[in-house]
Amino acid sequence: MEKIIDESKQGESLVLEQKKDNTRKLFIESYGCSMNFSDSEIVAAILLKEGYNTTQNLEEADLVLVNTCSIRDKAEQTIRKRLEKYNAVKRINPKMKVGVLGCMADKDLPNLLAEVEEGRDAINVLLSKDETYGDISPVRLNSNGVSAFVSITRGCDNMCTFCVVPFTRGRERSRDPQSILEEVNDLWSRGFKEITLLGQNVDSYLWYGGGLKKDFDKASDMQKATAVNFSNLLELCAIAYPKMRIRFSTSNPQDLTLDVIETMAKHQNICKHIHLPVQSGSNRILKEMNRLHTREEYFALIDNIRRILPSCSISQDMITGFPTETEADHQDTLSLMSYVKYNFGYMFTYSERPGTLAERKLEDDVPEDVKKRRLDEIVQLQRQHSEFRTNAFIGTIVEVLVERESKKSDQEWSGRTSQNVVAVFPKANYIIGDLVSVKITDCTSATLIGEVIDYALI
Ligand code: SAH
Ligand code: F3S
Repeated sequence: MEKIIDESKQGESLVLEQKKDNTRKLFIESYGCSMNFSDSEIVAAILLKEGYNTTQNLEEADLVLVNTCSIRDKAEQTIRKRLEKYNAVKRINPKMKVGVLGCMADKDLPNLLAEVEEGRDAINVLLSKDETYGDISPVRLNSNGVSAFVSITRGCDNMCTFCVVPFTRGRERSRDPQSILEEVNDLWSRGFKEITLLGQNVDSYLWYGGGLKKDFDKASDMQKATAVNFSNLLELCAIAYPKMRIRFSTSNPQDLTLDVIETMAKHQNICKHIHLPVQSGSNRILKEMNRLHTREEYFALIDNIRRILPSCSISQDMITGFPTETEADHQDTLSLMSYVKYNFGYMFTYSERPGTLAERKLEDDVPEDVKKRRLDEIVQLQRQHSEFRTNAFIGTIVEVLVERESKKSDQEWSGRTSQNVVAVFPKANYIIGDLVSVKITDCTSATLIGEVIDYALI
């Protein structure tokens, strides 16, 4: 059983912003991480200027773009199947062009249009490995008009040995805080109520006037003195937009500082949730993965979060069956989970990726059935912990941002608490975008159930 980042969103292709004079239609579909969804919004914005409005109807599209993910083999297989579907539609509508972008592709975005005009069928497009796209105001796809992603860093310098991201997305670079604040301002003025600051490793954000993170050492004294790090950026956003909810993802344990945790504590509008992937509970495997912290350091970080932010939820990513993983290593993962009791998590079996250090140096030697059995065990344990965590909310009052209709009933709203836990409750007179106080009366393992407390009536 494998989970993907947000299953409800995979392959969605809804759209809002259009230009009256545009004659061509773009159908864009995204797979994989939030970063990909955010990238699709940048691509749609670039193409909006080039004469393309977006459509949700595949049959009427002039251009179909699929933003791909190659983090695991299964993701690639899903996308290959989807491309077969496009080809079938193309047989009916031969003028339709199909393009592939994201991690499975390998070319530059500016080449895209030229290639379309030349009438090439399949186009490979990739957002540049050097750009930050700071000046592009993204077209909000899949939007409920309430929550939006804001990319703050691109690329990753970490070189975890299992991961293709450093190869597909290039070196880490951060975006100008001014342009980030402008984007947040634009979102706020258009009624958005929640932003998620995005990066493969957000806590490593560092703006010193432009340039790669790895070149910071060469910056001038002045640049160093005025540099903006992640906790500074978080605070800038929280103070400038005190009513905007602020989230961020993903935090690599080795880069999450006490400063960030303290900044979260200082500002009510910074949501109390940290996605803190650990990947394994075994020191030996963490080392093989080139994760630059130990199990003990991770526990110390968890203790600090619990001390400074007692209400904070914590979630994980985990990989089972990394090369050389023994039963003892697997037990370490289970015991680490029991220490933290994560609110939720995303768990995967190890998938060997071409070109990564692990692929070159280590044999993929844990049999598939063993990987799956270990995965089942951690998924089961996570389910117990999730239940334990959601149960603890029963009887409490939580603040929920109304985001959409509940999937189960059109009489109920669905939204998330500050801890990023979904809550459903009767609609009453509330509308999407309202921030409401909900008394939790019941729950399932992943969802809180309650009713709004109308203080005006008390
Ligand atoms: N930047 C994030 C991770 C991005 S990839 C971080 O620092 O954690 C999202 C998740 O996919 C990872 O956390 C990892 O759990 C999983 N993943 C990445 N590569 C994988 C691989 N080769 N096999 C299985 N899972 C993988
Ligand atoms: Fe991948 Fe590790 Fe970076 S998981 S995205 S190399 S922090």
